[in-house]
Amino acid sequence: MPSGHTPSPAALPQTHPCTVREVRRLTPDSVLVTLDPGDRLDRFRHRPGQRVTFCLDLQDRTCFRSYNLVNPAGKLPQVAVKKVTRGGAAEHFNDVLRIGDVLNVVPPEGTLYSEQIDRQARHLILFAAGSGITPIFSIAQHALRARPDHHVTLFYANSSTRDIMFAKELEALANSARMEVFHILGDGGTGEDDSSGRLTGPRVAKLMNQYGGGDLPEHAFLSGPQGFMEAVEAGLQTAQRPIAYSRYSFIHQPHLHPADPGVDTLTSTVTVQTKAGTKVLEEVPRHLTLLEAADQAGVDMPADCRSGICHRCKARLVAGRTVAKPDQAGKKSLPTGWILCCQERPASGQLDIELP
Ligand code: FES
Repeated sequence: MPSGHTPSPAALPQTHPCTVREVRRLTPDSVLVTLDPGDRLDRFRHRPGQRVTFCLDLQDRTCFRSYNLVNPAGKLPQVAVKKVTRGGAAEHFNDVLRIGDVLNVVPPEGTLYSEQIDRQARHLILFAAGSGITPIFSIAQHALRARPDHHVTLFYANSSTRDIMFAKELEALANSARMEVFHILGDGGTGEDDSSGRLTGPRVAKLMNQYGGGDLPEHAFLSGPQGFMEAVEAGLQTAQRPIAYSRYSFIHQPHLHPADPGVDTLTSTVTVQTKAGTKVLEEVPRHLTLLEAADQAGVDMPADCRSGICHRCKARLVAGRTVAKPDQAGKKSLPTGWILCCQERPASGQLDIELP
């Protein structure tokens, strides 16, 4: 669409005004926003995994952005938004939005969770990474209410405990004898078995053999970055029995304002050369460190402290630019051309690094 094009009213989805009733911090970089649609509350009843779309006027443009509804059935609509970039919609929700603001919102849409699922008792196996938890959290809440004989197992991957969204709420859900929650943390885990590292394909296959395979028919749901979902899919496909699954796509936005490019985030393609071969990380958001991006994509990188001290994550910068996290002043510096992957973020479209 050429820039300067004015959208015709027919091309725009119908929105309803919703007043912001609460903005609650979930993690240092995410918030839970409660909306009040007034007398249109009925239009905002949702199926698990559905999302609403906001028509936002940011400083430089109008854009549509969709987020999953995470409220329990019958309550005011809520979305959880994680800040991933500067200047985008997620920053607006995290840093600008105030109680009493009025947002124009397209009612819930999406078909992730089929009504078929609830026609019989099932074991729902949920895989989420980072903010990918939002549709999965909604599914977990729904499944426990929908039938007294559904069982739910959640595997939730994050870089560290501080990144866990809905930590308390998940703990409360896990009090049910019908739900188990396993946290998997890139920075070393919770001390429980199998709680550290990344979810790779072989690890998912092993988890399936360990925690699945009971009497109930199984259905898996996947939600997270592309590399994470590919790893989980590979694991499900190599498990000892076939497992039906559905995957949630964050990339596809149901509505696009004609004058908006559709993405807030600048991304980079990062090529990682190791002695074992070359891996390409696609669409790496620039707020992630290279180590976090590798974690999310299921690529193994050496790392220990994750705070710029041990130098185990050292890499040679072959091409492209990076930018250091702000708190790097005073840390021991590396020879020119070398970087610490736990401290540097991509700053160019293409980046090539080589691990020693
Ligand atoms: S993991 Fe220790 S310096 Fe990066």
